[in-house]
Amino acid sequence: MASSPALKPHERIFVGLDTPDIDKASRLAKALIGAVGGVKIGKELFTAQGPDGVRMAAGGAPLFLDLKFHDIPNTVAGAVRAAVHLRPKILNVHASGGRAMMTAAAEAAREASEDLGVERPKVIGVTVLTSLDEKDLEEVGQKGPAKDQVKRLALLAQDSGLDGVVCSAKEIALLRKACGPDFLLVVPGIRPAWSVAGDQKRIMTPEDAVAAGADHLVIGRPITAAEDPLAAARRIAADLDAAGVTA
Ligand code: C5P
Repeated sequence: MASSPALKPHERIFVGLDTPDIDKASRLAKALIGAVGGVKIGKELFTAQGPDGVRMAAGGAPLFLDLKFHDIPNTVAGAVRAAVHLRPKILNVHASGGRAMMTAAAEAAREASEDLGVERPKVIGVTVLTSLDEKDLEEVGQKGPAKDQVKRLALLAQDSGLDGVVCSAKEIALLRKACGPDFLLVVPGIRPAWSVAGDQKRIMTPEDAVAAGADHLVIGRPITAAEDPLAAARRIAADLDAAGVTA
């Protein structure tokens, strides 16, 4: 069971705007506003265009600011405070930054949003990057199965006051069980049955991911590369609705 059963199907979808081009991003955001839960903007656009570029690209759509902060607690707290000015709905940090860093991030989000009188962003953790296999993890001194580390970091994120984690589809069931019904699970690597997988390997359909316990789905190319992105987003929401997994 997902932690947000009251969400409407389309509200579960965050569209990944993976481009450094403001015009392209803002055209997509504008076309999709209201048909999806929001847009995810990350390091590519932020680094190329800065906070004003992010604001312009999102164009008022709910924002998942995917900057994956990882630094000493004081620096991450400062970055989170600065990020709150963009009024993100969700922002993220690396859980491997540790307890003090995550606690500082959660506290900074709370304080800054109170100061600004805006809704507090959900702060979520990134556990283990899915680009790392077990050999890569061993090379950086991390032994044992990756899924054990994912679970350890998710529990630490929860204990440090974060609202949830980003996880791969294959980790949803494990983390839903370990972290309970109220912990936000935000899941990329989603492919509708009618779309092409591209370079994503461990994929799941939107319906299966939500049925397994995902709250939000991060979906990029099945929407952004579609001939008609709005139609693709609506079709995904309709698939979710038809599957009845959001009731
Ligand atoms: O186009 P696609 O649906 O594959 O895009 C997925 C989005 O989620 C991209 O922004 C990608 O960077 C991000 N992501 C991912 N896999 C992860 C973590 C993040 O695809 N494990």
